[in-house]
Amino acid sequence: MGEFQRNICVLPGDGIGPEIMEEGLKVLEKVRKKYDIVFKLNFGYIGGAALDKYDSPLPDETKEICLNSDAVLLASIGGPKWDHYPPEKNPEVGGLLGLRKLLNLFVNLRPVVVYDKLKNTSPLSKRVLKGKIDLITVRELSSGIYFGQPKQITDKKALDTMVYEKDIVERIARVGFDIAKARKGKLTSVDKANVLYSSMLWRRVVEEVSKDYPVVELNHLYVDNAAMQLILNPSQFDVILTTNLFGDILSDESAAIAGSLGMIPSASFGGDINLYEPAGGSAPDIAGKGVANPIAQILSVAMMLEYSFDMREAADDIRKAVESVINEGLGTRDIIDEKPLSTSKIGDLIADRI
Ligand code: IPM
Ligand code: MG
Repeated sequence: MGEFQRNICVLPGDGIGPEIMEEGLKVLEKVRKKYDIVFKLNFGYIGGAALDKYDSPLPDETKEICLNSDAVLLASIGGPKWDHYPPEKNPEVGGLLGLRKLLNLFVNLRPVVVYDKLKNTSPLSKRVLKGKIDLITVRELSSGIYFGQPKQITDKKALDTMVYEKDIVERIARVGFDIAKARKGKLTSVDKANVLYSSMLWRRVVEEVSKDYPVVELNHLYVDNAAMQLILNPSQFDVILTTNLFGDILSDESAAIAGSLGMIPSASFGGDINLYEPAGGSAPDIAGKGVANPIAQILSVAMMLEYSFDMREAADDIRKAVESVINEGLGTRDIIDEKPLSTSKIGDLIADRI
């Protein structure tokens, strides 16, 4: 080991981003020592931080760093300071969607595990939380209403277009089936095929692809029903396969079930370089206070080690360390009522257990 170097593009971004990134890197440093690996960190600006410095939410300098890395580790972007920019120049569309496009990312994975200890923090009752809750959303990330053309806004009328092409549905469906096959073999495809044409095609293509995966049990849910089922009986889900917009919404919902959005990592694939980021946002209201939950960022580091660097053991070390801290009843204030710990203290505790 140690003979070759892994280049990581590090984008702390805005709000709580820099604070949680610090903890993610603390944990990465522990892994580096334990496994004698060389990680080269290349820092860049994105979102509001990049607007302030370069007057662009995704400057060429940052694109360059990303494209020359083996993986991109992002924290979070955006905040009220930059809300007045038009979409193509704001942190969300110009920055994050621009980055997803640049890297050709079409798969977004958001795993949700509800730890026993956090069943009290979940807004759902213990009765609903019976059984093991371990699900993953496979969200289509490159198409749908986020990117469909035309898009238009005037004072009197605004328009977005939801488009799904067969090939685009097929490639994400295959990812969903592959993941389900490697897990419990249950795939729930979520659409709105009773109303939307794009969903009718979605459902047809998913059915078609399912013929290649006889071992995977497929069912379809309309998105309104899926939103309800998630809070009525979350343990029925294994893999949720869905469109860009529905995945955005349902993944926040499932994160809340886990007790906090601050617990959920994500990984995006599709091109040569993967992107890893917490599922939550920049939380400007708590930025700079040292109270943000760093676990989503730390678990995003674990996903990066597993998927980009084939370091499954190191990824599991991180997950076990997180679980042991949680099981001792330790955490930041979003998950712990009594004696919550700071962002950096939680980072220290997790790093110490690797
Ligand atoms: C997410 C976020 C983004 C999205 C925003 C910030 C553009 O909500 O990653 O879920 O909608 O995809
Ligand atoms: Mg979202």
